[in-house]
Amino acid sequence: MTYTLLHGGTVVDVSGQTLTDILIKDGEITAVGNFSHLSEGDIQRIDCTGMLLLPGGVDVHTHLDSPLMGTTTADDFESGTIAAAMGGTTTIVDFAMQTPGSTLLDSLQVHREKAKHKAAIDYGMHMCITDLYDGAIDELPVLRQEGVSSLKIFMAYRGTLMLNDGQMYDVLKGASKAGSQVCVHAENGDVIDRIAEELVAQGKTGPGYHELARPPKTEIEAVERAIRIADMAEAPLYFVHLTTEGSVEAVARARSVGMPVSAETCTHYLTLDRAIYDEPGFEPAKAVLTPPLRTFEHREALWRGLNSGALSVVSSDHCPFCFEDKQRLVGADFRSIPNGGPGVEHRMSVVYGKGVAERKITIEKFVEITSTFPAQQFGLYPQKGHLGVGADADVVVLDPQGVTQISAGSQFQNIDYTLYEGWSLPGEIKKVFSRGKLVAADGQFVGQVGNGKYLQRAGY
Ligand code: URP
Ligand code: ZN
Ligand code: ZN
Repeated sequence: MTYTLLHGGTVVDVSGQTLTDILIKDGEITAVGNFSHLSEGDIQRIDCTGMLLLPGGVDVHTHLDSPLMGTTTADDFESGTIAAAMGGTTTIVDFAMQTPGSTLLDSLQVHREKAKHKAAIDYGMHMCITDLYDGAIDELPVLRQEGVSSLKIFMAYRGTLMLNDGQMYDVLKGASKAGSQVCVHAENGDVIDRIAEELVAQGKTGPGYHELARPPKTEIEAVERAIRIADMAEAPLYFVHLTTEGSVEAVARARSVGMPVSAETCTHYLTLDRAIYDEPGFEPAKAVLTPPLRTFEHREALWRGLNSGALSVVSSDHCPFCFEDKQRLVGADFRSIPNGGPGVEHRMSVVYGKGVAERKITIEKFVEITSTFPAQQFGLYPQKGHLGVGADADVVVLDPQGVTQISAGSQFQNIDYTLYEGWSLPGEIKKVFSRGKLVAADGQFVGQVGNGKYLQRAGY
């Protein structure tokens, strides 16, 4: 068949909803309009009556096949991108870690090799800078040419991942000159290390203490400091995984005076409570991720931040470690539990079910924060992030009357738990198209491993 016609559905974009058809050819959207008059011939017709047609999800924060805290994340590019596709995400931007002793360019090549012939959806890469060796800054323009126009730096994890403030300034300046942007993990690592030491000295070693070691102020202080340093470096700044009311306020203040500051939060910070850290035994380890889960007040502030525009992206921060591995690696106290949790498969369903269906956000806002804005922020728009003519035909067919059930037993993520166990959510993803090809249909993966393309991203 030359053409695919999605007809009878409601197309949603950031500015509204239209009852219209989408015509797809050679992986792209060739026309949007009413095509009921077209004769059968060369057209595969797909009835989308009653369905919402959404641009494929763009998840700009995943860690696939990634070395972290002495182990490797549980999903590789095959299982991770299949899980993404099943959950309506058709593009990821994954973090390539700089490996100790390697250059940025070599580390990027290592990560690109891991993705080759494995990805089921399209993917780009950020580069994490964890060791600012002489010459690292000179590689930023080369990375940019390779399509890696964003760099992550850490203000926490001294001794392994963290850069100091001067190094952060250097990276911000170098990135800005290269046309790239810096993504910051904002937590005051030194204070966190002190609090953690105090807790452990008091015998507070269990996994739930991870939360107490990383109080909201450790994030807020780092956010405020990073904004000031970016201002001094005259560079744009993007915050990953923000969790607190104070951080949202700091970003809003910066934006209100015209600073190029943007920020994301993640599915779990919007929808999950810190109460898991009070559970007995090793259960809290499932939520040993950084920053930790917060209280209701912070969650409400995050939803408000999305609605006001202070926050513009919801990512998954998919960084899966099996519960079994967390148990195996725990050592003497919570500090050695690998930090991270799963989420790429359930980001779209959870944000739709908890956000749109519970009227915290509109469906247009949903499209903006899960697809359009992440694509714009990370140099993928207009190829990704909308359903306009010429865009890649990445389309999610969502039934607002359907229901999504989540459980570890039925998920595609290669991990033995989910933080949304037993959830039943309004809205069901019926079909997902990646560049015009059906990859998910009625709960089955029908795509092809290896079909995902590396995305050369534009600069900032
Ligand atoms: O706990 C998390 N978020 N682990 C992944 C690494 C990071 O900081 O994003
Ligand atoms: Zn981080
Ligand atoms: Zn992360």
